[in-house]
Amino acid sequence: MTSLHSISASIILLFIASCSPNTEQQKGLVTENAMVVSARIEASTIGAELMKKGGNAFDAMVATEMALAVTFPFAGNLAGGGFMVYRLEDGSVGSIDYREKAPLQASRDMYLDKEGNVIPGMSTTGAMAIGVPGTVDGILQVHEKFGTLALEDILAPVIALARKGFVVTKKQENRLKYYDSILTEVNGKPLKEFSGKKEGDTIKRISLANTLESISKKNRDGFYSGEVAQKMITFIQEKGGILTLEDLEIYRAQWRDPVQFNYEDLNIISMGPPSSGGITMAQIFKMIEPYDIGQYEHNKDEYIQLLTESFRRAYADRNYYLGDPDFVDIPTEKLLDSAYLKNRMSSFNVEKATLSSSIKNGEMNYYESDETTHYSIVDQFGNAVSVTTTINGGYGSKLYSDELGLFFNNEMDDFSAKQGVPNMFGLIGAEANKIQPQKRMLSSMTPTIVEKDNELFMVVGTPGGSTIITAVTQTILNTHEFDMSMQEAVNANRFHHQWLPDMVTFEPNGFDDSTLQKLSIKGYIHNKGYARIIGKVDAIKVLPSGLLEGGADPRGDDTAIGF
Ligand code: GLY
Repeated sequence: MTSLHSISASIILLFIASCSPNTEQQKGLVTENAMVVSARIEASTIGAELMKKGGNAFDAMVATEMALAVTFPFAGNLAGGGFMVYRLEDGSVGSIDYREKAPLQASRDMYLDKEGNVIPGMSTTGAMAIGVPGTVDGILQVHEKFGTLALEDILAPVIALARKGFVVTKKQENRLKYYDSILTEVNGKPLKEFSGKKEGDTIKRISLANTLESISKKNRDGFYSGEVAQKMITFIQEKGGILTLEDLEIYRAQWRDPVQFNYEDLNIISMGPPSSGGITMAQIFKMIEPYDIGQYEHNKDEYIQLLTESFRRAYADRNYYLGDPDFVDIPTEKLLDSAYLKNRMSSFNVEKATLSSSIKNGEMNYYESDETTHYSIVDQFGNAVSVTTTINGGYGSKLYSDELGLFFNNEMDDFSAKQGVPNMFGLIGAEANKIQPQKRMLSSMTPTIVEKDNELFMVVGTPGGSTIITAVTQTILNTHEFDMSMQEAVNANRFHHQWLPDMVTFEPNGFDDSTLQKLSIKGYIHNKGYARIIGKVDAIKVLPSGLLEGGADPRGDDTAIGF
C-alpha cells in the first residue's frame, strides 16, 4: 500500500521537477518511463506512484480519476461520467463510454412548461438535472479488463488522501468563492466542507472516503446497490429528482470502437458517439487537410480563417446528426467521406467569412464554460490512456450529499431540451439528441491518442464544453504543423467557433489587433471585450528519443508527474 508519507515525499520531489520546465526550450516535464498529467498534483502523483510500484496505466487511471473526485470536486467525480480512449503497448486501441444516461422516468419534454417553453434552470440546477452516474462502473470495468493491482491497493492512497485532506489553491479559492452563493442556495445551507475555504486551508473529504471504502470493499455493489445506492436515491428523490434504484442497478458502461482517421502521417484515435468529439474532429482535419497549413503563420488571420470555416461546418453537422448510437443511426461514413467534406468546404471564400446562417439557421445567446477535466497517462510498458470526465457544469447540478461526499452531475443539460434552443454551452441540438429514457446525452469530450508512423506520438484532451473539440484540434496542429514542444502546444493561445453563435472566440491577449482587424474586415464577428480561457489541455508527447514530455496547462493547477 502506498503510504501518505511516500506520496507527500514524491509530491515534493516530483513537483520540483514539474515546476522547473526548461524555459529556454519551453519544454514541460520530461521523464523516461511513465507520466500522468492531470488537473491536480495529488491526482497525478497518486497515479504515477502506482505505476512506479508496478501498476499499469489502467491502475493509474482508476486512482487518478478517484483522486480528482477528492481534490477537484469542481469536475472530478463519482456521480458523473466520462470517456476513456486507450492504446495498448501492442498497438491495439479501444474506448469505454461511461457517459451518464437519462433516467427511466425521463421524457422528451420534461424541461418544457405547458406552453412548450424551456423552463430556465431545470436541466442545469438541482435534482431534475441529474443523469444516471456512470463513472464508478466505468473505472470498475477498466480495472476488471486491464487492471493488474488489487482494487483495494489502488483506492487505498486515494482514501487516505480524502481522510487527510488536500490544500486549497488560489484558483480553487476563487472558484469556491464564485460558486458559494449558488451552492448554498441549491442545498439550502452553506456546504461545511467547502464554504469560505481559502488558499492554504485543508479540506478533508471524510464522507467521500467512506463512499470510496464501500466501493473498495464491495466493488459495483458498493455504489450501484446497497446502502450507498439507497442513500443516494433517497437524497435525490427528496430533492425532487426522478432517479430510482433501478436506474442505478441497470447502469452499465459500454466498450466501444473509437473513431480513427488519418491526417497526413498521423493516425488519430478519438472518442466516438455518444461523444461528438471524434467525428467532429475528423471532419475538421479532413476539411483542412487539402490546404498547405505550413504556408500560414500560426494564429494569424489566414490560419484562423481556414480553421474557423472548418469548425463552422463541422459543428453544424455535429448538432444535427449526432446522438447516442444506441438510439440513433449516425451516418458516420457519409460524414467522414472525403467528397462530402470537400463539397462542404467548396463555399469557403478566402476573401470573406461564410455566414453560419447560410449553412443553417438558428438564433441563440452565447455561454462559455471551462468545466470538466481531462488527464493523460503513459505507463512504463507503453500503454496509453486518455480520459475526459465530467459532472458537466462546475460542481454539476450544485446538489451535494454531505452524507456521501458527492456532487451530482447536471448532464441532462447536454440533451437537446427543445429543438433549436441552446444548452448551457450555446449548442443547438436537434432530433438526434432529444431526451429518451436510458439514452446517453451527446457530449463534446474528446479524449484522443495520436500515432505517428504507427508508434504512440501523443495523448491529449481538455475540458471546456463545446470548445473541447477545437482546443484538441489546435493542440495537435501546434505540434504537428508548427513543431511546438508539448508544453508550447498546450500554452499557445486558442480560438473557437461552433457554427452558432456566428462568432470567433479568442483567448485574452493572445491575438494581435491587426489580425483581429483583418478578420473583421472579412466579416468575422469576434468576442473582443469579453475574452476568456479556452480549455485546459493536459497532454503527453513521445519524443523521438522515446522520452515522454508532459504538457500541463498553466491555465489551471494542472501538473505533470512521472519517473
Ligand atoms: N458535459 C460536457 C460534454 O460532455 O461535452
